Amino acid sequence: MNSSIQTAAALIQQGELVAFPTETVYGLGADMWNPDAIAKIYATKGRPSKNPLIVHIAEIAQLDSLVTELEPLEKTLIAAFWPGPLTLVLPKRSEVSQAVTGGLSTVAVRMPAHPMALELIRQAGVPIAAPSANLSGKPSATHHQHVRDYFGETLFVLEGGATEHGLESTVLQVKNGVPHIYRLGSITPEDVERATGVKAILETNSPHSPGTQFKHYAPSTPLILMEPEALLHACATERGIFGVIATTELLQRLKPKPSRSFDLGAESNLMEVGAHLYEALIEMDRLQLSKIFIQSFPEQGLGRAIMDRLRRASGENS
Ligand code: TXA
Ligand code: MG
Repeated sequence: MNSSIQTAAALIQQGELVAFPTETVYGLGADMWNPDAIAKIYATKGRPSKNPLIVHIAEIAQLDSLVTELEPLEKTLIAAFWPGPLTLVLPKRSEVSQAVTGGLSTVAVRMPAHPMALELIRQAGVPIAAPSANLSGKPSATHHQHVRDYFGETLFVLEGGATEHGLESTVLQVKNGVPHIYRLGSITPEDVERATGVKAILETNSPHSPGTQFKHYAPSTPLILMEPEALLHACATERGIFGVIATTELLQRLKPKPSRSFDLGAESNLMEVGAHLYEALIEMDRLQLSKIFIQSFPEQGLGRAIMDRLRRASGENS
């Protein structure tokens, strides 16, 4: 048995916070039944109290203590995507505190596909409420080092290296037999339609999902989102000390080569682009540049989730 997971589980049971890896991003977790621990999450992140948390479970049986009943379509989604990066918004049982749900009558639940996260939840013996492990408004942490940089050495961090997806989970609620997607993620609207036979409705700036209303993922350096051709032109004429975040192919076309650039990977591999996005924003933000240019992507499949994050990070959505 991994002793650091044991230590982390004991801390959760004592009402402390623990950061842990998931397949999407790192989470800042606490015992969902402990009100003081939940309050610590909000205080530590500087998170608005109206922004609800996701509850992480390791076994389907844990749903019984959280939600009243599942609709057939919800069961289909669970069978198709759990463990994995899909968060379901479900009607909550009265025992689930409104401090966890931001005052809502629903609770967001997911089963992460990461062995350390699952083992932590099992050993702690309780569902773990966890937002992404970043300061409120900043890019999510996709490596344990990012978590340390945000919160310092006093927070216990389970070290799992870089996360697989690098984008937060897809958040979805079934209403009248139709999936409504509140937050795009690596499970795409196309994936949802394939699994359920029903076309999902995109509601990605919905007041039904309070988190999407707040400023997000933003580096301190001005971030400028541009079509690839426009980006090439802007870099050729820009005079200040700027940075570029782009695919391998686009970076190769830049002449002269910019001194500060981050390679997101191959254009054909959006999974890789998504996995590197926050790392790119976090690293480039450290360099004290006057601005960062970042390229846009076609809005299909995973490209939609990537563009959603880029719009918010560049302030286009605020
Ligand atoms: O991938 C993820 O989802 C990561 C890892 C750690 O699991 N977690 C994460 O949590 O991204 P956070 O707190 O950064 O985002 C939670 C999102 C917010 O957009 C919030 O509005 C939405 O989930 N949410 C939570 N509870 C909800 C509810 N009851 N109804 C609608 N949206 C809800
Ligand atoms: Mg977050």
